Amino acid sequence: MPGDQLALILLSKQGRLAVAPRGRPEPGPGEVLIKVQAAALNPSDAKIAKLGIFVEHYPAVLGSDGAGVVEEVGEGVTTFAVGDRIFCHGAFDDNDLATFQQYTVAVADFAAKIPRGISFDEASTIPLGIGTAAIGLYGTVHGIGLVAPWEQGGQGKYARSPIMIFGGSGSVGNFVIQLAKLSGFSPIITTSNMRHSDFLRSIGATHVVDRYLSLSALRAAVGRITSAPINVVYDTISIRDTQKAAWDLLAPTGKLVLTLPSLIEKEAGDRREIVLTNGSPHRAPNRETGRELWANMERWVEEGHIVPNHVETLPHGLDGIIDGLERLYTGHVDGVKLVAHPQES
Ligand SMILES: NC(=O)c1ccc[n+]([C@@H]2O[C@H](COP(=O)([O-])OP(=O)(O)OC[C@H]3O[C@@H](n4cnc5c(N)ncnc54)[C@H](OP(=O)(O)O)[C@@H]3O)[C@@H](O)[C@H]2O)c1
Repeated sequence: MPGDQLALILLSKQGRLAVAPRGRPEPGPGEVLIKVQAAALNPSDAKIAKLGIFVEHYPAVLGSDGAGVVEEVGEGVTTFAVGDRIFCHGAFDDNDLATFQQYTVAVADFAAKIPRGISFDEASTIPLGIGTAAIGLYGTVHGIGLVAPWEQGGQGKYARSPIMIFGGSGSVGNFVIQLAKLSGFSPIITTSNMRHSDFLRSIGATHVVDRYLSLSALRAAVGRITSAPINVVYDTISIRDTQKAAWDLLAPTGKLVLTLPSLIEKEAGDRREIVLTNGSPHRAPNRETGRELWANMERWVEEGHIVPNHVETLPHGLDGIIDGLERLYTGHVDGVKLVAHPQES
């Protein structure tokens, strides 16, 4: 029905964001309708709003991360029932799947029940961060094709292999650390502001190195931790400086995952690989990884293998997202995921 819910709508490319009525979307086969209780913000949402990238069609509803209660179940869905508390990986390039609205459609394959003891806010922090981490590590097109922990022999497979993670305190960084632990990597070394070290150790980092070290000091610090070749480096930050350091530390046949386009000048004959990840399970090459990840999600969260990001709740419902996106874009968010409550609009 037209206008029977509220959504935060980006009216035009780099245009105004406004809360306005929008028809409640309808779930198709393999989908469910969720009443959204919590929607987490990502840097991609801020970049779309400010830079006009990633989204082609306007007016647009943004938001990839959501959690709420199932209101309606589409044809063929057997995993969820009306009233279930679930979280899902939405999509910022499909208005019906976007989460900055009061009702969203979730693809059942990329959704999971929220275990007891986990809030809507906490659950909403997981989807894009973990999707980007998992697809980067285990995807074959947008990732480096490691054996995933859901595959036979995958859990603990990389014991005694080091992994280097730039930006452990960010959302993607948190989840790369946790998946690296499930995969058995050791040591798990991450760069971060040192004030996050205790938390990063609690989720699996074995060593936290100060993100402000010079390249030579970083090289020396890592050399004191391990002398083994570092064949896997995940640069979740992917700005020029971190890419340079990541490339410097990578072993001669190692693989580097980036979240932003490469700025590295790779010389002919260099056997190292660089992969730019794409965290969306909706993209055709990522679907299988996404399905496997989400099939294991409820159990992993319930068993504590996957811990949500720290939450900062935004006031003012959907309107509060506007200020949140500004803070994300200008770098005024640190060690927390901003979460909005669409029903408070
Ligand atoms: N390709 C894709 O599909 C994809 C998907 C998701 C995200 N991304 C991109 O990946 C990047 C990270 O996303 P996110 O969601 O993890 O961001 P986030 O949660 O906002 O995390 C950013 C954190 O990184 C830390 N940081 C900043 N500069 C750093 C540096 N030089 N070294 C180490 N840590 C640093 C900051 O913490 P401190 O100040 O405390 O160190 C900051 O809190 C963004 O650019 C995002 O757009 C791409």
